[in-house]
Amino acid sequence: LKTKYLSAIAAAADESALEELRVQAVGKKGEVSLKMRELGKMTPEERQVMGPQLNALKDEINSALAAKKVALADAALDIRLKEEWLDVTLPVRPQRQGSIHPVSQVWEECTAIFADMGFAVAEGPQVEQAWYNFDALNIPGHHPARAEMDTFYMHRAEGDDRPPHVLRTHTSPVQIRSMEKHGAPLRIICPGRVYRADYDQTHTPMFHQVEGLAIGKDISMANLKWVLEEFFSAYFGKKVKTRFRASHFPFTEPSAEVDIQCSWENGTVKVGEGDGWLEVLGSGMVHPKVLEAGGIDPKEWQGFAFGMGIDRIAMLKYGIPDLRAFFDSDLRWLRHYGFSA
Ligand code: PHE
Repeated sequence: LKTKYLSAIAAAADESALEELRVQAVGKKGEVSLKMRELGKMTPEERQVMGPQLNALKDEINSALAAKKVALADAALDIRLKEEWLDVTLPVRPQRQGSIHPVSQVWEECTAIFADMGFAVAEGPQVEQAWYNFDALNIPGHHPARAEMDTFYMHRAEGDDRPPHVLRTHTSPVQIRSMEKHGAPLRIICPGRVYRADYDQTHTPMFHQVEGLAIGKDISMANLKWVLEEFFSAYFGKKVKTRFRASHFPFTEPSAEVDIQCSWENGTVKVGEGDGWLEVLGSGMVHPKVLEAGGIDPKEWQGFAFGMGIDRIAMLKYGIPDLRAFFDSDLRWLRHYGFSA
């Protein structure tokens, strides 16, 4: 039995042959197993001789099976290694790598710079209740600002009694949502997409803003100016000329718009030179009514807010003359202005 099985195992060509041999020899009804069962019918003397012999045989067969199994696997691996080889000196197939869109890049830059100044990132929905987008920001229904904003209104079917919704026209509704959620004091920015029905070289129906809001006991317009100038020097990597123009927003009082000095020559825009100005943000001291709408007592707290065009400052920093190209998904444009990951 021993020589029969050991030589058969040594000769087994593959794993299934090996398994067959295992069943034949030491399986439940295998030859060795049957022999072991006969031990019961033997005399004690016979059993004392045969028992250890059979056990040893079984062990030997089992270890031969295991060893052969390893040998077969090794051989199979050797064959694969011989057959499946690669010529690592072959030139690779050309592969296109994607790039980071200038808007994503600038979004990240803004978040990082404001984070250094202690601003946390807040978020709000793009499909926003008209109440957050307008009323809570002191823009009542009849206010001309609603019309000026070229708002996209969400259609409501008859019988739909949800409050009216719009595509948010600015990130300012997140001011109210943050006040409601966290109360005062508060220091947040909110980068995000906003929507207005408008289209020319510097306007697209979807664009990006980063909202800023700081509320404290004695926050002033001077703090606003410092934060913005600090931001622009960090962002442009140099001091750039800014222009604060008195302006009006229903949700700030007083209000200012900020322009960045730039030149627009032969299709390129350059920041910090020339006699052109590009408006990049609106800002001001948060209107008491807005604080109240956010559940904050205007007798105790005050603060500043701003809303900056991310796409605008991306155009300025990276010399991109036409905003519309940002959203055309033209691969040549993306390769040119994109950032490597
Ligand atoms: N929400 C204004 C806009 O989109 C910008 C702004 C934000 C102005 C905060 C003042 C304060 O034009």
